[in-house]
Amino acid sequence: MNNTAAVILAAGLGTRMKSETAKMLHRAAGMPLIWYPVKAAFDAGLDRVVIVVGHQREALQAEVTRLFPDRRIDFVVQDRQLGTAHATLCARDAVADCGTVVFINGDLPFLTGDSIRRVQDAFESTGHVFALLTASVDAPGGFGRIVRDADGVAAIVEARDATPAQLAVREVNVGVYVASPGLMFERLEKIRGENAAGEFYFTDIVAAFRGEGRNVGAYVLPDADDARQVNDRVELAVAEQKLFLRKVRELQLSGVTVHDAGSVMIDYDCRVGQDSEIFPGCEIRQGSVIGGKCTISRGCVISNTVVGDGVMVKPYCIFTDSVVDDGGIMGPFCHLRPASHTMKGAHVGNFVELKKTTLGTGSKANHLSYLGDCEIGTGANIGAGTITCNYDGFNKMRTEIGDRAFIGSDTQLVAPVKVGTDAYVAAGTTVTRDVPDGALAISRVDQKHIEGYAARKRARAGK
Ligand code: UD1
Ligand code: MG
Repeated sequence: MNNTAAVILAAGLGTRMKSETAKMLHRAAGMPLIWYPVKAAFDAGLDRVVIVVGHQREALQAEVTRLFPDRRIDFVVQDRQLGTAHATLCARDAVADCGTVVFINGDLPFLTGDSIRRVQDAFESTGHVFALLTASVDAPGGFGRIVRDADGVAAIVEARDATPAQLAVREVNVGVYVASPGLMFERLEKIRGENAAGEFYFTDIVAAFRGEGRNVGAYVLPDADDARQVNDRVELAVAEQKLFLRKVRELQLSGVTVHDAGSVMIDYDCRVGQDSEIFPGCEIRQGSVIGGKCTISRGCVISNTVVGDGVMVKPYCIFTDSVVDDGGIMGPFCHLRPASHTMKGAHVGNFVELKKTTLGTGSKANHLSYLGDCEIGTGANIGAGTITCNYDGFNKMRTEIGDRAFIGSDTQLVAPVKVGTDAYVAAGTTVTRDVPDGALAISRVDQKHIEGYAARKRARAGK
């Protein structure tokens, strides 16, 4: 009976989002809203998470399972969205064997494991009756208001049912509660939807306990910003901005220079090494790791990519699912598509696209090229306008370019094909057969000169 579960309420219609997508699946700072309370619950050390699902439940379950593949998460279904009391009751059987249950509203992206533990402490202090999380906010808006009396929290009044005096109260209900399930579910069953929304309000439980002479506990969040919930897209945007700023601040304090912090989007799990510098308008998305002493110039979008130390990324580069080793010089305007790898000191210049391609140590592809399904050795030079013709409309084929090979400008490499070590390919060549080590491949039509052509043409035109 001593184990503790979290029940996360996530079945709501999210009407105020005005969306075909369930509110819990909307993303803030790269993660769907449901991820935040689930993570907080596990961070608090809770043994188990039960999620009440309803609206778009298949999609929600699939997303949660994808995000937490190794965790114990159960789902219970609320068929009709009759309010938070009803949603809570749907979890009754699932937590019947738990000593304590933490109930969490799904739309709280700033909730931390520490805040949950503080509410648990408040719960202990009430002799295991009930405790909740509150915050004193500047704009209480749609939050339930906390009504206090001499014995502490006396009731939660929903904004739309509140009197003007109650509306002026700035202490609000955040939407995290700790309860003994037996005691609580009995009382919840008696809650009726006699309110402006005609919904069964979970929050009426507080007045029910107080009516029996039992006191409820409360933990007041020291930082009211952590109480932010997301009911509509304005709140979603504000929450996202705060989440990104929080991440940037963490990086700044660890020794990263970030210019115009409000314009930068860095996801929670990304790492950036000391003395790196990030310029405005960059996105560093999930799974990315940037080393130390790197420059990530304006407008770069880096997703799930590992960048080594001392890499210079010039403006407007896009890297996806790739690896850039130490000392690389990238861009401006270069595109690493999935499974690309540039090795130590490699250069990738403007309007160069790599896909499933390795560019060896110190090799350069500086201008206007497409290198797809390609393995390039060390010290190679890929001239301007080099194109790997890797696709015949059905299959993708590979190109291999040896160490120190020199590929002249405007070369087409018709895959599958190999260019040997130290080989040269003359500018304008279409390579259709393997080039031996050290050889020169050249395929050009001989150049002719038609003498006096321009004068004759002018004369014909009478100019
Ligand atoms: C709720 C609280 C309010 C509190 C606020 C803070 C109630 C009645 N009010 O209001 O006091 O200040 O949260 O976050 O509880 N849900 C279901 N099934 C339903 C209805 C809702 O699962 O039938 C879920 C939603 O998906 C959501 C959570 O419960 O995750 C809260 O619902 P929401 O509609 O956001 O409640 P608020 O109006 O914000
Ligand atoms: Mg809400």
